[in-house]
Amino acid sequence: MVEVAKASPEDFDWLLRHDPHVDAQWVLRCIELGEYLLARREGEVVGFLRFSLFWGRIPYMDMIKVEPGCRRLGAGTALFRAWEDQMRARGVRLLMTSSELDEFEPQEWHRRNGFVEAGSLTFPGIQSAREIFFVKQIG
Ligand SMILES: CC(C)(COP(=O)(O)OP(=O)(O)OC[C@H]1O[C@@H](n2cnc3c(N)ncnc32)[C@H](O)[C@@H]1OP(=O)(O)O)[C@@H](O)C(=O)NCCC(=O)NCCS
Repeated sequence: MVEVAKASPEDFDWLLRHDPHVDAQWVLRCIELGEYLLARREGEVVGFLRFSLFWGRIPYMDMIKVEPGCRRLGAGTALFRAWEDQMRARGVRLLMTSSELDEFEPQEWHRRNGFVEAGSLTFPGIQSAREIFFVKQIG
């Protein structure tokens, strides 16, 4: 049984260790704004979802990650569904996410959650592979 809830300040250390793509200040900011969801199994954190707002209004799933030993047990789906439900309740009509072109597995996972490909971008000096963007209409 997986439980999903917003992260709180007590989760800061765990998030800092498990979300190395952002710095401590960003982790704090996302906790304060409710932009982290955590999945727990038997009280242990097994994964997280972090989002932000493109244009300040379209929810963009920056990162979803489940601990390697806990994958394919439904935690990722539970996180995504909880986020989607929260966004729908806010009146959101479109969700966004993205993935590197050569990351085939995450792309498949996004597609099975209802996302469709919407284009790609290059980020010179930051990432060699193109980033593919996905959108999902929810309203
Ligand atoms: C992608 C990820 C979040 C999925 O989480 P998860 O908890 O393993 O996924 P779930 O158990 O909820 O999977 C639900 C379904 O998707 C399938 N699935 C899981 N991972 C998959 C993958 N990488 N590719 C395709 N299908 C996948 C499962 O088999 C399952 O199908 P089933 O219900 O028919 O058995 C997880 O694999 C992960 O953390 N990957 C590394 C980080 C990453 O790539 N993040 C995404 C880009 S930001």
